[in-house]
Amino acid sequence: MSKTYQIAVVPGDGTGPEVVAEGIKVLNAVARKAQFTLNYTHYPIGGDHYKATGEILTDATKQALSKADAIYLGAIGHPDVKPGILEKGILLDLRFHFDQYVNLRPVKLYEGVATPLKDKGPADIDFVVVRENTEGLYAGAGGCLKRGTPDEVAVQESINTRKGVERCIRFAFEYCRKRNKAKKVTLCGKTNVLTYAFNLWERAFYEVAKEYPDIQTDYAHVDAICMWMVKNPEWFDVIVTDNMFGDIITDLAAMIQGGMGIAAGGNINPKGISMFEPIGGSAPKYTGKQVINPIAAIMAGQLMLETLGQEKAARWIEAAVMKVLREDIKDVAAGKMGYTTGQVGDLVVDFIEKNY
Ligand code: IPM
Ligand code: MN
Repeated sequence: MSKTYQIAVVPGDGTGPEVVAEGIKVLNAVARKAQFTLNYTHYPIGGDHYKATGEILTDATKQALSKADAIYLGAIGHPDVKPGILEKGILLDLRFHFDQYVNLRPVKLYEGVATPLKDKGPADIDFVVVRENTEGLYAGAGGCLKRGTPDEVAVQESINTRKGVERCIRFAFEYCRKRNKAKKVTLCGKTNVLTYAFNLWERAFYEVAKEYPDIQTDYAHVDAICMWMVKNPEWFDVIVTDNMFGDIITDLAAMIQGGMGIAAGGNINPKGISMFEPIGGSAPKYTGKQVINPIAAIMAGQLMLETLGQEKAARWIEAAVMKVLREDIKDVAAGKMGYTTGQVGDLVVDFIEKNY
């Protein structure tokens, strides 16, 4: 019997719906070929919905989402909504609610895609960042005193639990083993200054590493990682780090792989409901113009299938995307592709139809 998956779709704001539509087109093409079924339920969550109804993310919606096998997200963000409301109220709330404790960011430079790094090519840029996704500075611990006075105090604490850190590190080692490339996990921290938090990380890292004798370990401070990522990206295979550092280094990483038109991420709970998204944002100025690159959303779908265990179908998507990037698209940036958003989706589907 063929398998059926329930996919909760949150197209979201701005160009989110346009790129999600292309992702679904591609997902359907591989599902037909690999003989499984994807059932989609759309949820109107986002800035537009918030402006219209005052609702951010209701308990009823969370309840409904909890019936899904995975969540496929376009983009959340609205130019008329104060920064923080949608990010905290939707994106972070979903990550925390579904305990998606890993933010998985593959960083791969595909052939035909330009990198700003001089003398680096696809052989040099192929690594994954495993970012802790539920703790650290994102936990929301802290507060302020004497707000608005000259004596104002603001405290924002980084929460690092042994359990939270260890499960993230263990995921990184497991993923590294499965990936089977350089077989190296690099811990990215700041042990020289953040002596409480990263001491815990460091101990957990080397203890977990003992269970993986086939995998090499390495450590680099976060500032040094930024330097090496530009100078020697080929050194990295899997990088594991905390929430805040992971947020920062994955934007740098997205740039060296060709930019936001390409970069996809997964918010993963290996035993629960994971959520997949292009990391580029809602790009309001391009809304409805069919100029945005849907490859990031298509690759988010690819990551979703890989996580759901449909690895063959995921490989097919990647192969189709590689062909389109190598042979068809002129430039990955919005408006410079030489094709519309919809045409890029069609090119990916076309390759799948003809080759599998
Ligand atoms: C990301 C984003 C989010 C984050 C924002 C939108 C809250 O930058 O997914 O990296 O900081 O995690
Ligand atoms: Mn970010």
